[in-house]
Amino acid sequence: MRIGVLTGGGDCPGLNAVIRAVVRKGVGTYGHEFVGFRDGWKGPLEGLSKPLGIAEVRGILPRGGTILGSSRTNPFKIENGVEKIKENLAAQGVDALIAIGGEDTLGVATKLHELGVNVVGVPKTIDNDLGATDYTFGFDTAVNIAMEAIDRLHTTAESHHRTLVVEVMGRHAGWIALHAGLAGGANVILLPERKFDVEQVAGYVNKRFDHQYAPIVVVAEGAQPIDGQMVLHNQELDSFGHVRLGGIGQWLAEQLEAKTGKEARTVVLGHIQRGGTPTAFDRVLATRLGLQAIDAAHEADWGKMVAMQSTDIVRVPLADATRELKTVPLERYAEAEVFFGS
Ligand code: F6P
Repeated sequence: MRIGVLTGGGDCPGLNAVIRAVVRKGVGTYGHEFVGFRDGWKGPLEGLSKPLGIAEVRGILPRGGTILGSSRTNPFKIENGVEKIKENLAAQGVDALIAIGGEDTLGVATKLHELGVNVVGVPKTIDNDLGATDYTFGFDTAVNIAMEAIDRLHTTAESHHRTLVVEVMGRHAGWIALHAGLAGGANVILLPERKFDVEQVAGYVNKRFDHQYAPIVVVAEGAQPIDGQMVLHNQELDSFGHVRLGGIGQWLAEQLEAKTGKEARTVVLGHIQRGGTPTAFDRVLATRLGLQAIDAAHEADWGKMVAMQSTDIVRVPLADATRELKTVPLERYAEAEVFFGS
């Protein structure tokens, strides 16, 4: 078989580990050939590809980003997008696709499968918000980066008796904030799943100062105050209809400074959470998902997404991945609340 591989949506550490595993097992064990499509769905849409063999995947296991490039291109928003993809796959002699992506990329993969394209999906996102898989690779790396930042912020916040507000990514799910905040010993953690009361947060901050420790407040970019709205970077929507979030940290720091009388500053971790080398956990998870994806393709088990359930790598229908967003259950938030303000 000749199999196309693409990576779509926001990049995350571990994408290259998947590509490597797919190609190493696909060529070495099964004798398949590969084509690398560039920049997500833009590649098959426009026929943009590059060779993808054993030589191309040597040395990429620890490398962040994706050797194939990525984009948020939505072929269903482009006139005759599906026909163009089918034509380009046929022109390049490609029998099937392995699509590595989050809810948007896998949503496209699901629809293409229904329209007769042979597809296997591999879940990725630092947000960890995909259904049907316990974890997505990239998440562990993002959490470790945010945790290290929080560790560092503790010492400087304490030297200056300041509140430091750390804004993390995650879009509409608070997994990164929850895990990084718990691991980093944050004073308060604010998630999109539960609206927050600024007065209560100011109370936690004051209590922490009373104990002679400076507070670290971790806020997810999608968190919202009880009587306010999500803070958007701007009003533009991407081709999948997503808004760009960002700014809640600054807003919150201003509120906390006014309410507590103590200086408050903001750190926005942004794309630092997505860059650089994957952790061991993410390398292993990405590798195992890649191995299962090429097995599924070899067996012509189309329309499946590979997933981590407990410690097993399994196959589930692609549609299950995007059916509903996996958000933080409130019981998990309650575990973190035990530590707020203390
Ligand atoms: O979905 C991954 C993610 O990093 C989100 O956490 C964040 O909201 C978004 O992508 C940022 O997207 P971009 O890199 O396109 O600004």
